[in-house]
Amino acid sequence: MLQLDTIRYMGNKSKLLEFIVPEIRKITPKNGIVCDLMAGSNVVSYALKEFFTVYTNDIQEYSYTISKAVIVNQDQTISSQTAIFDLQKHFADNKNNKTFSFFEKTYAKTYFSLKQCCDIDSIRYAISKVDDKYKQSLYLLALMNAMCVVQSTPGHFAQFMPSEHKRIIPLQKMDLWREFLKKCDKYSDIYQSSTENKAFCKDYKELFETDLLKKVDTIYLDSPYSQEQYSRFYHILETVVKYDNPVVNYKAKYRENRFMSDFCYKSKVEKEFINILTFCRANNINLVISYSNKAIFPINKLQTLCEEYFYSVNRNDIDYNHSTQGKGNQKLSEVIITCSNT
Ligand SMILES: C[S@@+](CC[C@H](N)C(=O)[O-])C[C@H]1O[C@@H](n2cnc3c(N)ncnc32)[C@H](O)[C@@H]1O
Repeated sequence: MLQLDTIRYMGNKSKLLEFIVPEIRKITPKNGIVCDLMAGSNVVSYALKEFFTVYTNDIQEYSYTISKAVIVNQDQTISSQTAIFDLQKHFADNKNNKTFSFFEKTYAKTYFSLKQCCDIDSIRYAISKVDDKYKQSLYLLALMNAMCVVQSTPGHFAQFMPSEHKRIIPLQKMDLWREFLKKCDKYSDIYQSSTENKAFCKDYKELFETDLLKKVDTIYLDSPYSQEQYSRFYHILETVVKYDNPVVNYKAKYRENRFMSDFCYKSKVEKEFINILTFCRANNINLVISYSNKAIFPINKLQTLCEEYFYSVNRNDIDYNHSTQGKGNQKLSEVIITCSNT
């Protein structure tokens, strides 16, 4: 199975690929099209690339950037050597004469040290000077990946560690440019397929209003399953990619107007699943859902709902120690529901 080292991401399915990918293969025609509707870290899309044409979607732009880098991109690669050649001069220019300084002004001594913030600004500035958009996305992915290594947090960006925390000193001593170069080497041999993959960055409801998914055979749905909004946990990644100098609020410095997913509200989640099931049935698209036995929408109810919309529904429960990013490990079952009309 193709594995991808991307960002540290809550609920990422890298350890479950061996269960998910075969389910998708069972119901999707050979050389068919699969849409990963909420692609997150893109690890599932990347594994699917070996077998299918892959479309990705996610509301967050960092996820879209990863899709461009490793799913849509068919020929660009990067390495520490290309990074030194393409970026080092601009990196030094920004250090000496600051054009990009949002991280330094906003996040010094929070999620990163002052020096790490200056490095993030300068790497980001250097990336903005790269012409090819796929190469740019690869460098942005390497930068996000490096930021996930040095972050002074419990594993996500909903909060940063207090200054007296014993891990702060070693974390804030880490050299971001060096970590970035190491990550660039990780993306020197991205799996290239010959299919015409596509990436979208939309609320799925907007995507459903277009005809972009007309030819899709199977949708893979891995929606949020708790009340935790991804836009709160990964706001820093959104900002480094967009670099749009947002207004930030609260002690944790969240972006203003961040996206709030209806999958995270008990009162709204059922309607979200009904939207997706209705769309799939109307367009004759198979559906594979990853969900959890401890989610805000009860798993048995979800299965019953699927049975109302699909002729054939199979459920697999997998015992799984899920990483809750700093909250310890909980015994959870990951559930895969496979729906088709054949
Ligand atoms: C559980 S994560 C997906 C994890 C992914 N399968 C992986 O392995 O990394 C859920 C994703 O849904 C996205 N999302 C939530 N609501 C959405 C919506 N209405 N439209 C599009 N994406 C949405 C979030 O941004 C998040 O990346």
